[in-house]
Amino acid sequence: MGLKPTVFVTRKLPLAVEDRLQRDYQARLNPDDQLYSRDEIIARARGAQAILPCHTEHFPADVVRRLPDEVKINANFSVGYDHVDLEAARARGIVVTNTPDVLSDATAELTMMLMIGAARRASEGEKLVRERLWKDWSPAFMVGTQVTGKRLGILGMGRVGRVVARRARGFDMQIHYHDLRPLPSTEAGTYHDTLDDMLPYCDFLSLHCNVTPATRGLIDARRLALLPDGAILINAARGALVDDDALVQALQSGKLRAAGIDAYNNEPNVDPRLTALPNTFLMPHIGSATRETRDAMGFRALDNLDAFFAGREPGDRVA
Ligand code: 8YV
Repeated sequence: MGLKPTVFVTRKLPLAVEDRLQRDYQARLNPDDQLYSRDEIIARARGAQAILPCHTEHFPADVVRRLPDEVKINANFSVGYDHVDLEAARARGIVVTNTPDVLSDATAELTMMLMIGAARRASEGEKLVRERLWKDWSPAFMVGTQVTGKRLGILGMGRVGRVVARRARGFDMQIHYHDLRPLPSTEAGTYHDTLDDMLPYCDFLSLHCNVTPATRGLIDARRLALLPDGAILINAARGALVDDDALVQALQSGKLRAAGIDAYNNEPNVDPRLTALPNTFLMPHIGSATRETRDAMGFRALDNLDAFFAGREPGDRVA
């Protein structure tokens, strides 16, 4: 057997994943979990045939072009791949993979938490108790809006969107969705040909699509205005789908009753206008952050590497 390929791993991964990496590869790990700059990524990739990055490492075209020639595959520890310029990777002949499926349950679970947290004013309630500001109770105290039985609009009925629909049906929610095409089963919910057509039916609007040139900034002032008054926006996908100025304005005016957010523009520097608002329920990009899912994401990335280095097509190739 020849030399094991060298894999540069940009962040500290779960123990079981690192054990398998060290067994099967020359693993260049990051035990201190440092956040590397772009120049450090390029320097540390020298001599590695593979990089295993997270979404915290960005690979725009100029970084991809500067990667050492020996890098042949970028096996991401994430389902999203908007942090990698796929065109540039293709031009360099670098294979790119992601980790779909394994995080759908965890992300859908967090989506339900965002919906309930935003509707039932979880941030305000928790602050009152934790900061010992809770002084009284009355029938009008901390009244939110119910999730059960409401209309949920899902933008992007892919893997995560479909699990969200299933979980939401447990809350008797009526599912509406928009995607490029309808699902074969009408049981999925009510399909809308266009997002604009769906928006007036959304008591809750939950985003589950990729960031592409077509979806960047999709949720803007015009589209927010099409929602029913008092709607709730949920984003466990990517901040770039939303125009923050329009979102803040809609939350301030009451057009939106609330927002539940796990993914932001310019992470981890969340727009201070969002943190200042009482009607936002905010999580720090933890959609896939369960022990089970993080292990599964790591193993999925390794399955992709194993296939690539065995001369097979990696199952989750996106470029
Ligand atoms: C991860 C995610 O936290 O997979 C994704 O696209 O956004 C999250 O599940 C992150 O990407 C890990 O790199």
